[in-house]
Amino acid sequence: MRRRSVLPSHHDDLDKGGGKPPQSRLCLLATLCVMFWVLIFYFHFSVLPSDADASTTHPVSVATEARIARADPAPDGRVSEPDDPLLAPPAVVSEPPPATLPKEEEMEQEAPTAVVVAQEEAPRREYPFQRALKTAENESDPCGGRYIYVHELPPRFNEDMLRECQRLSLWTNMCKFMSNDGLGPPLGNEEGVFSNTGWYATNQFAVDVIFGNRMKQYECLTKDSSIAAAVFVPFYAGFDVARYLWGYNTSMRDAASHDLVDWLRQRPEWNVMGGRDHFLVGGRIAWDFRRLTDQESDWGNKLLFMPAAKNMSMLVVESSPWNANDFAVPYPTYFHPAKDADVFLWQDRMRSLERPWLFSFAGAPRPGDPMSIRGQLIDQCRTSSFCKLLECDLGESKCHSPSAIMKMFQSSLFCLQPQGDSYTRRSAFDSMLAGCIPVFFHPGSAYVQYTWHLPKNYTRYSVFIPEDSIRKGNVSIEEILKSIHPDVAKQMREEVINLIPRVIYADPRSKLEALKDAFDVSVEAIINKVTQLRRDIISNSEGKDFVEENSWKYDLLEEGQRTIGPHEWDPFFSKPKDKGGDSTNSSEEAAKGAWKIEQRGQN
Ligand SMILES: *[C@@H]1O[C@H](CO)[C@@H](O)[C@H](O)[C@H]1NC(C)=O
Ligand SMILES: *[C@@H]1O[C@H](CO)[C@@H](O)[C@H](O)[C@H]1NC(C)=O
Ligand SMILES: *[C@@H]1O[C@H](CO)[C@@H](O)[C@H](O)[C@H]1NC(C)=O
Ligand SMILES: *[C@@H]1O[C@H](CO)[C@@H](O)[C@H](O)[C@H]1NC(C)=O
Ligand SMILES: *[C@@H]1O[C@H](CO)[C@@H](O)[C@H](O)[C@H]1NC(C)=O
Ligand SMILES: *[C@@H]1O[C@H](CO)[C@@H](O)[C@H](O)[C@H]1NC(C)=O
Repeated sequence: MRRRSVLPSHHDDLDKGGGKPPQSRLCLLATLCVMFWVLIFYFHFSVLPSDADASTTHPVSVATEARIARADPAPDGRVSEPDDPLLAPPAVVSEPPPATLPKEEEMEQEAPTAVVVAQEEAPRREYPFQRALKTAENESDPCGGRYIYVHELPPRFNEDMLRECQRLSLWTNMCKFMSNDGLGPPLGNEEGVFSNTGWYATNQFAVDVIFGNRMKQYECLTKDSSIAAAVFVPFYAGFDVARYLWGYNTSMRDAASHDLVDWLRQRPEWNVMGGRDHFLVGGRIAWDFRRLTDQESDWGNKLLFMPAAKNMSMLVVESSPWNANDFAVPYPTYFHPAKDADVFLWQDRMRSLERPWLFSFAGAPRPGDPMSIRGQLIDQCRTSSFCKLLECDLGESKCHSPSAIMKMFQSSLFCLQPQGDSYTRRSAFDSMLAGCIPVFFHPGSAYVQYTWHLPKNYTRYSVFIPEDSIRKGNVSIEEILKSIHPDVAKQMREEVINLIPRVIYADPRSKLEALKDAFDVSVEAIINKVTQLRRDIISNSEGKDFVEENSWKYDLLEEGQRTIGPHEWDPFFSKPKDKGGDSTNSSEEAAKGAWKIEQRGQN
């Protein structure tokens, strides 16, 4: 506007001056003088105004730079995080936004706070765990960022339970399974099904002690908790509850858990993060530790509901899809190699086997459970000439023989792994160990469980046939499996065989070198989890919008993804569910039924 008011007068002057012939030098000088001032005005109002416009945005960019500059030497050494709204000024919007940028609405909502924070010059908070985070930057320390501190618990929390091993199960004398550091008695190899070394009659609930003993071999243990990436609590949580599951009141069942929590909370290590860097192992299904009420008729203890346990991470062989403090680790198999070469030999053998059966199933029907598809699977297997069946409920002892089971899995291309009394089965890991491609019928049987150990893209190593299609009775498993091209099946089997090291527990008395076993994978995952939590706490971006009931969806996210949405498996995990094995109620029923698994050894 102002520029316009100047320009016309300029033209007017020019017209006036230019329209008349020059009369004197004075006149020329006057004209030049006028032009000079016109130019001054022109520059003042046409060029400077754009500068003035810019100056309204200028303070923002200065402030932004200042914030980034302060954030740069962050205590954890990271450069500015793209997911921190404080450090994502609108100025960079033209660049492709990083995948983890919060939604724009969020950024707008937080923008005013950001300005206030920047102006207040709040001193950066120091956290006691920053020293531990720093060890990861020390390049001359091979254990940097990987140290584990192990609590020295009183023996009543672990060793004493082993001494009283006859009390660990009402059905099985667990004492023989405690031999060989928890691997159990060695298996003979009369039928040539196993390899000559590394095979044991391992009980499926022995992870407590196997994991504890593997930890003793962990290469980066530390006595200095201030540099620890995570803190291990060597409590035998599974053995503890197993002692009291049948015929004991709730106070007996909860006693050791209360005792443990009281002990932990008095330790200085607890206060660093309220126990959120602690982890422990209970080699049973989560439902044994998730008693909903204090009614005596309810199942299990309530360890996983205790406030202290909600801060810790507990490793179990089957986790709850709706909870964030339990994580699934593989059931133990019968194979516990002492060196890498034993694994490679086994893998090569599984690659070259003849597999005469298209598919096979080892298990018992569940006549008492109308929603179980096991009856239909058994029928389909029995009527197919391509299926091998090992039925378990006819007093047939073969079903309990590790050698008979492994022999069948080794001669099959695909192995059916329906739910048992709960979502998961040890059998899934036994079959993978035999190089047999697992067929799952519920995502809770593996896909939302063992996300640390198995690929998130389940089609790479398994076949999924939704339970409902079997229930409706018009799906032929034989047809589905036959339709898989042999090359595709070969690719899947190769993936399964490559997964073997990750799903077995190495002999805790020695160490694998290049290979990572189920223990290594789990510890690495826990360390990553605690490290991420610590970083999130420092950058004040922790747990935004986290809905615990959707835990299983977060577990399925790929690296870098942070938000969840509707999922194709929602129907499998809708809660509550009046039918199907998914409601908390029937999960409890499942846990109660689990005694049958224990009684039979192999369900
Ligand atoms: C880095 O690690 C080495 C080897 O463990 C250790 O001697 C050294 O003190 C560490 N440096 C720092 C700054 O912590
Ligand atoms: C629970 O059982 C134990 C022994 O089995 C008994 O000593 C205790 O009094 C019982 N507690 C309650 C609350 O019933
Ligand atoms: C769990 O962690 C939170 C956050 O650190 C803390 O406030 C709380 O006291 C902890 N709970 C227990 C039982 O220590
Ligand atoms: C999953 O794996 C299959 C087979 O390897 C592949 O064809 C497919 O593209 C993968 N899907 C994703 C989402 O990566
Ligand atoms: C059988 O399967 C087809 C899809 O293949 C489906 O449309 C149909 O509803 C099913 N029939 C029954 C009785 O479930
Ligand atoms: C579970 O559901 C059954 C009926 O479906 C009911 O009889 C039982 O009391 C329920 N159990 C619990 C713990 O709610």
